[in-house]
Amino acid sequence: MTGQVLVVTAGAGGIGSAVAHRFRSRGWHVVIVDRDAGRGRAVAGGCDGLFVHTDATTMAGCQEYVEATLARHGTLDLLHLNVGVLAGTAVGDGFDPQAYQSMMRTNVDSVVFGVQAAYAPMRAHGGGAVLVTASTTGVRPSPDALYSASKHAVVGLARSLAGPLGQVNIRINALCPGAVDTPMLADRRDALVRAGVGLVTPEEVAAAAEQAHATGRTGEAWIVNAGHPVAPHPFTEVVIAGEERISR
Ligand SMILES: NC(=O)c1ccc[n+]([C@@H]2O[C@H](COP(=O)([O-])OP(=O)(O)OC[C@H]3O[C@@H](n4cnc5c(N)ncnc54)[C@H](O)[C@@H]3O)[C@@H](O)[C@H]2O)c1
Repeated sequence: MTGQVLVVTAGAGGIGSAVAHRFRSRGWHVVIVDRDAGRGRAVAGGCDGLFVHTDATTMAGCQEYVEATLARHGTLDLLHLNVGVLAGTAVGDGFDPQAYQSMMRTNVDSVVFGVQAAYAPMRAHGGGAVLVTASTTGVRPSPDALYSASKHAVVGLARSLAGPLGQVNIRINALCPGAVDTPMLADRRDALVRAGVGLVTPEEVAAAAEQAHATGRTGEAWIVNAGHPVAPHPFTEVVIAGEERISR
């Protein structure tokens, strides 16, 4: 794997920085993408990596980090689309439609635009791989229903894009961590621990990212939950007869 190129969005955060350090320790070149310039530069510096300071939820931002990566390294082997925020609002009294739409844009657009930006360069290089950070809330109900909807969306994207992307030798998988001990959960960490919720470390998520990538498979959603072995989620297959004969 030595000498391959990883791009990780939200790379200055808990999970992103752990993934960057793990792949760097395996000899990869890393590119950190984040809107936090201070932390982003620090993480990139610690990985001898490139930092791209941009908004990874816009098409222009995604094109910017892909172009910066190609300019530096000439290739992009693994794109880890890792941006995501909690909803900050809920259906019912006090619903905030702007907070909802902002969260959906952040969590879903960052994946769609990221894959789109990487598609042509990866195809031109004979293939590549995409890893998307979803969540266990992407495969099960959650008290944060709107966040859960956004993570179901990215799990669905990864599974549905696996076929078409496979035709140009691009693999795509999702990572579905449970509660991870990062700044994202800082304000509720104590309550989770008191309630007995097991926290996954960012390093465990990074190890799962490496494991999921190393299988060479596609269209899987890897569960990374405290107290359980890391494994792809066993989805029940729903067959639509004749669908395979429809070209899109
Ligand atoms: N922490 C958890 O419990 C947990 C569990 C499951 C899934 N996840 C998912 O893991 C991913 C990473 O979360 P984390 O816990 O490492 O978060 P974190 O709060 O530690 O880091 C988030 C990073 O994202 C960056 N960021 C936010 N919006 C951005 C944007 N538009 N463009 C570029 N950078 C942006 C922030 O600057 C920050 O560095 C998210 O998708 C999150 O939904 C987290």
